[in-house]
Amino acid sequence: MIVDIINKKRLGEELDYKELDYFFNGYLSGEVKDYQMSSLLMAICINGLTEEETFCLTKIFVDSGDVLDFSKDIKVLVDKHSTGGIGDKTTLVIAPIVASCGVKVVKMSGRGLGYTGGTIDKLESIPGYNVNLTDKEIIKQVKDIGVVISSQTANLVPMDKVIYALRDVTGTVSSIGLIASSIMSKKIASGADKIVIDLKMGNGALINNHEDAKKLEDLMIKIGKIYNREVSVIINDMNTPLGYNIGNALEVLEAIDIIQGKETDTHLVDVCYDLASEMISMGKSISKEEALKEVKDSIGSGKAYNKFEELVTAQGGNLDKIKISNKTKNIRAYKNGKLTKIDALEVGKLSVKLGAGREKLDDKIDYGVGIKLNKQLGDKVRKGDLLATLYVKDNVKISNIKEMFVIN
Ligand code: URA
Repeated sequence: MIVDIINKKRLGEELDYKELDYFFNGYLSGEVKDYQMSSLLMAICINGLTEEETFCLTKIFVDSGDVLDFSKDIKVLVDKHSTGGIGDKTTLVIAPIVASCGVKVVKMSGRGLGYTGGTIDKLESIPGYNVNLTDKEIIKQVKDIGVVISSQTANLVPMDKVIYALRDVTGTVSSIGLIASSIMSKKIASGADKIVIDLKMGNGALINNHEDAKKLEDLMIKIGKIYNREVSVIINDMNTPLGYNIGNALEVLEAIDIIQGKETDTHLVDVCYDLASEMISMGKSISKEEALKEVKDSIGSGKAYNKFEELVTAQGGNLDKIKISNKTKNIRAYKNGKLTKIDALEVGKLSVKLGAGREKLDDKIDYGVGIKLNKQLGDKVRKGDLLATLYVKDNVKISNIKEMFVIN
């Protein structure tokens, strides 16, 4: 039966609910082995999932664990999810801003996947920050301060936890159906009424082209309808890393700069303001223009940063203890010209090589390493100008500077 199902998908045929349920729940119980699941995932990546298969898989994922229901404690709960990108620290920025504007946010985040970083890894770079809150602690905190950023609770879509980890190390991340069911099952089980999806598109994202982005958007909205959730999808570019910093602790520091209003002119800031406004607009049923004004006022008045500090303190973190590696290496411009490309994928690969992400399931992350860009796309540079500083633990050799930073 197990091999029959793999063969069926390998031949491009549609699997029914019973087959998907048997296989995926078999994996969770240990009957289906890693190599068999890897094989099915690869067949899915190559041949795709039909809409019906995606809906079935989403249900199997949701049903694999608890479904949280905050409705008796909280009137409207808004959540957001990013499909992942290089230097994407939007959650760290947005969640406290939105909460400071009076919209409650419970954000259940994940770890890094592929070359893209994960919010939970970033938060763990803040010494003491507890990413493992229980349902009760989540409800108490969101009632007390209006915001939580935590790992998925132990029994929230346990199926996604194991499949996500396996996809990460078997080259089976980029399947639209798998991405849609992974994201939407977590959003549905996390109990939010309204969901904003930040769909990243580009060479540093899981989705590389507009056609696939639209397919994924359409699928997620359809899944939302089945579960009676309002879903808004915003497609954002991910050919260039977001902001200046890539790497866990470095990204937390950049997020702080944005929440404090110190970084205002990057594409990252535009994306954060846009997503935060969308969440506030949905949460308060006001226009996006009014919501944007609230975002700017909250940053300007310091309310947003107070909320960030409140969040970190509530979860036990100590911002004073964040550490960045004290060993650095500089990358300099190899000629005069204009910076026409900062290749997100190459930068993402470099950050994993430095130790900021995982290559294998059980790799340990080094929170203090990463890349700090000194220039943004379109900047004029002169030969010898500092393009980026690498925060390293060991000496690294970089042979592809010209692919990472294209100067014309
Ligand atoms: N983010 C998720 O949560 N799941 C995916 O499959 C991809 C991005």
